[in-house]
Amino acid sequence: MTNRVFVEEQEDIVKRRSSPNEGLNFHEIKEMKYLSNVINESLRIATAKTIFFREARNTININGYTIPKGWKFLSFSWNYHMDPHTYVRPKEFNPSRWDDLKTKPATFLPFGVGPKMCPGANLARLEVSVILHYFLLNYRVEQVNPESKIEPPRNCLVKFKKI
Ligand code: HEM
Repeated sequence: MTNRVFVEEQEDIVKRRSSPNEGLNFHEIKEMKYLSNVINESLRIATAKTIFFREARNTININGYTIPKGWKFLSFSWNYHMDPHTYVRPKEFNPSRWDDLKTKPATFLPFGVGPKMCPGANLARLEVSVILHYFLLNYRVEQVNPESKIEPPRNCLVKFKKI
């Protein structure tokens, strides 16, 4: 079901073109609602183990804990990407959760935050959108060993088929 929606969105975009020679454009990418949900959900889960290193420039107090000036500390994305208050059943891969989800500050940080935030964030999203557009229209994936677990990945082998 999910896969069908994923593919149909791309097929509909191609059908709406006035000529079959037209290539993918930025306007079409912005219309890819479901694909954008898949990217968000993949980023949420795949980057849940990211760690950000920082140094406190001033002494600060967070929820009763003091971090003295000059201390190094690290923040672990797992705490906010897997928070059930923001993401219902957080371990489930569910792109549709992004349909109505309004994330509050510091609940979705796949690219970090503040002045050290990833400068390639938009480029990365754009590249993945272009690749997935052509992939969904031209290829199918088949799991070779369906008995293996996908999350967490355990010897999960797939075959790519050109259609
Ligand atoms: C899905 C793809 C990507 C992910 C998940 C990602 C994630 C991140 C994260 C978490 C940081 C650290 C942010 C922080 O400390 O607050 C970072 C930094 C950085 N990223 Fe990315 N990134 C991606 C793609 C890219 C691309 C495509 C480029 C360049 C074309 C890029 C260039 C950089 C650079 C230069 C920094 C260092 C920024 C600094 O220290 O000021 N990244 N990225």
